[in-house]
Order: sequence, then structure tokens, then C-alpha cells
Amino acid sequence: MSDGHQNQIDIARLQREIDELSLISENPPPVVTRVLFSEADLRAREFVKKLCREIGLVVREDAVGNIFARWKGSDDGLAPVATGSHIDAIPNAGKFDGVVGVLGAIEAIRSLQRSGLTPKRSIELIIFTAEEPTRFGIGCLGSRLLSGSLSLDRAGTLRDGEGKTLEDRRKTAGFGNQKLESVRLEPNCYSAFVELHIEQGPLLENENIPIGVVEKIAAPSSLRIELTGVGGHAGAVLMPERRDALLAGAEIALAVERAALESGSPDTVGTTGVLRVEPGAVNSIPCRAWLEIDLRDTRVATRDAALKRIETAVSEICRRRKITFALDRLNVDAPALCDAKLVQAISDSCDDLGLACIRMISRAYHDSLFMAQVCPTSMIFIPCRDGVSHRPDEFSSPEQIEKGVAVLAGVLARLSVDSI
Ligand code: GLV
Ligand code: MN
Ligand code: MN
Repeated sequence: MSDGHQNQIDIARLQREIDELSLISENPPPVVTRVLFSEADLRAREFVKKLCREIGLVVREDAVGNIFARWKGSDDGLAPVATGSHIDAIPNAGKFDGVVGVLGAIEAIRSLQRSGLTPKRSIELIIFTAEEPTRFGIGCLGSRLLSGSLSLDRAGTLRDGEGKTLEDRRKTAGFGNQKLESVRLEPNCYSAFVELHIEQGPLLENENIPIGVVEKIAAPSSLRIELTGVGGHAGAVLMPERRDALLAGAEIALAVERAALESGSPDTVGTTGVLRVEPGAVNSIPCRAWLEIDLRDTRVATRDAALKRIETAVSEICRRRKITFALDRLNVDAPALCDAKLVQAISDSCDDLGLACIRMISRAYHDSLFMAQVCPTSMIFIPCRDGVSHRPDEFSSPEQIEKGVAVLAGVLARLSVDSI
């Protein structure tokens, strides 16, 4: 680190904690899988809460399992400054996505405590429930509810792959003693929110820049489609008679690719990440199929046009193949614009530390997308090897993480005494 380095980061300890948390997983190492409210997710929450309590943070949990850990400031009347990220992990993930922003924030707070800082505003760490969409098909569940962008009616309709509701799941996980409506945050409850995260893309590594400051988060959307055809014997039903749900699904997946490729924008990305079929036997025609589709762009108009094109293709394909379908727009979100003054404050903290930074767009979504609706928000990105993420070989080096944590500590220190 440079001479400007003020808060000593214990990177060896942080790396040990990242490694230890990665072992709390539904799969053997190096794979990390922690689906919302799985046994691994619940154990990971205990691990993080323990670290928070060890340094005197006051911990509370809300009705959907968002965790808040507060380092109390000297002036209770001031809105706290918040930081945080997530510890749930998609199937077959790595150990850094989300975790760097949670364990890194704990180390940032420890470093500020060691430096003797007395925060005026409280500093609050938020560990968001289900940033990943694996269980209910919708990402950022915790922050959507905190910001009010997911209505309680809509939340009531969510079902996981086993048909269980959010209400069922949160009760079983031990969060049922509070009502879901209590999750929504009050206006002006935070002065700012800053999330530290790995970039999940190659730009910082390619440019050899240690820090990215996020100015905008791309607009995500996702669809769930249920296709119903007619099953039958793979030998006995002749081809012209078939109403094969999987084949309709396969055509839809290709239509998603085409809609993204032909949107006119290089930033449109479309993925059919889930395709399940029933009955799933080699000698039986698939009678049902479920698809989950993820479509994003930095420009909302282009994303919406591609979405429309996909939906039109679904109707056309299903009509032609005599398949009935149910299409659910799980989420169609606007992009987020980060707060210009906060972006500047992060950039100033990089200058204080002698670290180069660039301003960038986040193509991945984050809880910051929804925190931006609550208070001034921005993100600190660090490089990750080859831009790889959502894979077990995801990697950021201790040096890269240390720089990100130092910038976060600097920003928190700055915002805990001043307003932006
Ligand atoms: C977050 O994990 C995303 O899919 O962007
Ligand atoms: Mn992720
Ligand atoms: Mn993430």
C-alpha cells in the first residue's frame, strides 16, 4: 500500500475468514453453494454474526433475515452510514462474490476501531438476504423488500422449486415471529450506502487499475416460463403428432440469444440459465418444461425492446407447436444511478491512499440497485482474475482485496463524521 495508507488492514486474518466461510457450503471445496435458508446459509449467517458481535457491533435481524450490525456512533440523532453485501451463493459459485463486501466491511470496521476512530454517525453493516435468485427466481429479495420495490402482495406469490412460499420458508428458517411488512426501511434511515464487491468482469484487470467506482448499475429482468405439451411413448408417437414441451423450450432459448444479439446494443445480454423437463426419461416425450431467463442492458429502452421480442417469440413458438404456456415476469427493473457526491467521496478516498481508480458501470446487479432507492449509493469494485465470477475458480488476490477494504474504511471514516 502507498504512504497515504492510514487504516492498517489485517489482510491475513480477513483471508483466513474468507477461506473459513467458503467451507460452509452445500458442496465440497472449492465449490461454494449457499442457497437461501439452506443449512449452509443459516450456518454462514451464524459465522458472520459471531464476527460482528466479537467487535461490539449490535446485531438485529428482520423478518426476511436481513442482518444489521451497528457500530454505534457518538451522535444517535444522525442517520448511520451503511455498507454491506451478501453471503448467499448460487450453485457452483466461488468464495468472493458478496463475501468480500461483508467480511471486508467487518475488517474495515476493525481497522477503524484499531485506528482509534470514534464515529459520529453510526456505521451499519447490512448482510442482505438472498441477493442471488436461486430459490425464488428473483434476485435481491432482501433489499427489494427493504426499499419497498417488491410489494408484499407480490412477495406473497413467490414460490420456490418445491412449491413452498416465502412465508413457509422464512418461518422454517426462524424469522416468522415478525411480520414481513416490518422489513421496509423508513425514509432517511441511512445517510449513504457503499458496497464493496469484486468486479465480476475483466475491465479493471485489463487496465491494471486496482479500484472501480460504480456510477451506474445495468437494468436486470427475468422471466419464468412454464410450458405444457403432451407426453407419450418415445417409440409409439410419430413426429407429426408430437407436442414436445422441451423442443418449444429449446426454440425459446435460441430466441433469447437472438433477441440479445440483434438488439443493436453490445450491452444486451440474455441467458436461459434454467431448463427443467418432466418427466425426464429418455423414452418419454417431455410433457412439461420450465425455463428461467435473465435479460439485461445498461439502457432500459433496449432491454425492454428485447424483452418484448422474446415474449412475442414465446407466443409464436407455442402457437406453432401447440404448447400452452404461462409466462411470469419475475422482475423488470430500472437501472440505478449512483450518487455523484458519493462517487466523488470514494474517488477522494482512493486519492488519499494513492490508488488509481476509474469510474465504471456494473453489469451485474447488486443490492445497491435497490439501496439506491433508499439513500445515496455507490460501489467500490476490485479486480478479479480473468473477470471470472459465479464459478468455483473465481479469485481476487489478498493484495487486491486489501486495497478495496482500505478504500472502504477510508470512505466509512469520512462519511461517519461528515455528510456527503
Ligand atoms: C448477481 O449475482 C447477478 O446475477 O448479477
Ligand atoms: Mn452473484
Ligand atoms: Mn454479488
